[in-house]
Amino acid sequence: MSTSADQSSADAAPAEVTAPAATERQIAQVKKVRVHHLVGAKQRGEKLTMLTAYDAITARILDAAGTDMLLVGDSLGNVMLGYDSTMPVTLDEMVVATRSVARAATRALVVADLPFGTYETGPEQALASAVRLMRVGANAVKLEGGRPRAQTIKLLSDAGIPVVGHLGFTPQSVNKLGGFRVQGRGEDAQEALLADAAALAEAGAIAIVLEMVPEPVAARITEAVPVPTIGIGAGVRCDGQVLVWTDMAGMTDWTPRFVRRFGEVGRALQQAAQDYNAAVHNGSFPGSAESFKA
Ligand code: KIV
Repeated sequence: MSTSADQSSADAAPAEVTAPAATERQIAQVKKVRVHHLVGAKQRGEKLTMLTAYDAITARILDAAGTDMLLVGDSLGNVMLGYDSTMPVTLDEMVVATRSVARAATRALVVADLPFGTYETGPEQALASAVRLMRVGANAVKLEGGRPRAQTIKLLSDAGIPVVGHLGFTPQSVNKLGGFRVQGRGEDAQEALLADAAALAEAGAIAIVLEMVPEPVAARITEAVPVPTIGIGAGVRCDGQVLVWTDMAGMTDWTPRFVRRFGEVGRALQQAAQDYNAAVHNGSFPGSAESFKA
């Protein structure tokens, strides 16, 4: 049902477009995206893109498309490994995925998630886990949580390991958060998120993922911190956006409300497999061109 608020925004003149056109993005010219390019892009108002990747063949395609960052997310668990959450994902599984993505990516900055249980004990545990991911080619690691993680981020950063923070809905805390819920609603929650973001930036985080946060809250955080915010379900006023590639490309029947399906690759793949099966069944594959001569 449309409300009067919807109507007045529909009637209003289109917002002035201030972001530079995609072709003018200076970051698009760099051969390899590095940590300092991210803050430069924020300062110039150039939007950053991040997509998840879990294997080499997909990473190569997403990298060739000009994606600025590839996130080897612990969504590996639900997306690729058939788990029902990110909680069971192990560091060994992340190492395999990170190595595969890092081998394929030429331009994108590769960020690898520290999975649940591999950093919460404290900075030393986080350092040991992060070292494993960096050794197989990650350019940065990501971890979830606010102010309690500041010390860990500082230690990793001091050890030369760039860290991306993750605030708002943090899937590894799904049990504590009581399900998949928007975070940062209400004055207290909003102030807490702002304090978390400031602490992460102060500790040396190179960027902060904001997941399922109301747009005005994400906008306040984006204005307040010097490092890029990368939104997922956090509105357009973040410095960049991240999506799970299988959601973005339409690989599944269902996608969360904040996702736009930019393709229907799942359907195309199913069709290709159906065509292949039919061609084998009816004897039209392989044809003479696909067979070796004596
Ligand atoms: O693991 C993941 O895919 C993520 C994104 C949702 C940001 O952390």
